[in-house]
Amino acid sequence: MTHAAITGWGKCLPPAVLTNADLATFLETDDEWIVSRTGMRERRITHVPLADLIHVASARALACAGLPADALDLVLVGSTIGDELAPNVASGVQRRLGARKAASMDLNTACTSFLYGLSTATALIRTGVVRTALVVGAEAPTPFMDWTDRNVAVLFGDGAGAAVLQATDREEGLLAERLGCDADARGILDIRGIGARYANAGVPHGHTRWHFDGPEIFKRAVLGMTQASEEALARCGRTVADVDLVVPHQANQRIIDAVGRRVGVPPGKVFVNVQRYGNMSAATVPVALVEAVEEGCVAPGSLLLLPGFGAGLSWCAHVVRWGERTAPRGSSDAELPPCDRTGLEIVNDLRARRARYDGASRGFLEAARTMLEGELP
Ligand code: ACO
Repeated sequence: MTHAAITGWGKCLPPAVLTNADLATFLETDDEWIVSRTGMRERRITHVPLADLIHVASARALACAGLPADALDLVLVGSTIGDELAPNVASGVQRRLGARKAASMDLNTACTSFLYGLSTATALIRTGVVRTALVVGAEAPTPFMDWTDRNVAVLFGDGAGAAVLQATDREEGLLAERLGCDADARGILDIRGIGARYANAGVPHGHTRWHFDGPEIFKRAVLGMTQASEEALARCGRTVADVDLVVPHQANQRIIDAVGRRVGVPPGKVFVNVQRYGNMSAATVPVALVEAVEEGCVAPGSLLLLPGFGAGLSWCAHVVRWGERTAPRGSSDAELPPCDRTGLEIVNDLRARRARYDGASRGFLEAARTMLEGELP
């Protein structure tokens, strides 16, 4: 049987940092509340388009695999909102990398997009459609964040991670997964103001309102990730005792702790970096995976469990067998352009721009109130 080994890995985090103290300069919040409810201390704010973060993470993953870009048969970008919708994000990544022979596709299951992408690319490799794939998980929510809403503004950050998958006869890469979606609850986490529904409806594009039932998301996330973890392990005949490391979606330290307790994994076997980056949506799992390898938490042959959840409400868990190599084959010189502003300065620019926008479009926003605040179909 053909498997899809992970042979390259790379990440890209924008350099500008936004701390909890920075958030408290314009929101009624404080470090103690954010740390105790979420575990987050800081997050990154992008000064470049999402495509730039993806390009750097992807170039690093390819160098790590020791492959040229034209070895790729597939570029798959998992993300909720790309810089453009048409053409898709993946075609831009393909062009910048010079991956001339690849097919390119985007996939959106919100925060689980990288993991669903791992399933998709692995299936295409197993069935012989492609042999080498780049799977990206990337998100830059801060440019369209509603910075007036403390319920969501403190939770998110920007970043990108990527993995190269290659066909192999060895039993490596994805061994089993369980994918699911609580579509009846899709209305408990939605972002209004982005998407075709809002076009020509009077809502300035990118004027977002985030509908967010935090406690309900929390409950369903824990249930979904626990159920998916148990079922994915059962599907490949493993138990939790076989798992060397859990690398979960990083949405909240308390959600991660609750899933660990329910699945029966001790905290020492769970990789957490939510304190550094907040919730980077589709980027959390690949970035955490890269850091787990870099920090020596992944050994040759390690069995990894990757549980995730996201808007939709999508949920899943993936069981992955790491290969023999934990060191990169090479490095890339791809870098972001320098950033001359702090995270707070970037966010204050975004806030000022939105305030101008809101002032100019007050009448339109009033007319579109039902679209922004009514029930989601
Ligand atoms: N600072 C201070 N107070 C705040 C803040 C803040 N940043 N945000 C909310 N509050 C207040 C609320 O207004 C509320 O006040 P009230 O009781 O007077 O109305 C109170 O804090 C709520 O507190 P708790 O109930 O203790 O909050 P909870 O423990 O539920 O934590 C949180 C909230 C962090 C949002 C949690 O529910 C959570 O993490 N849920 C999951 C959210 C998530 O991960 N979403 C991402 C999904 S992934 C995707 O696809 C986009």
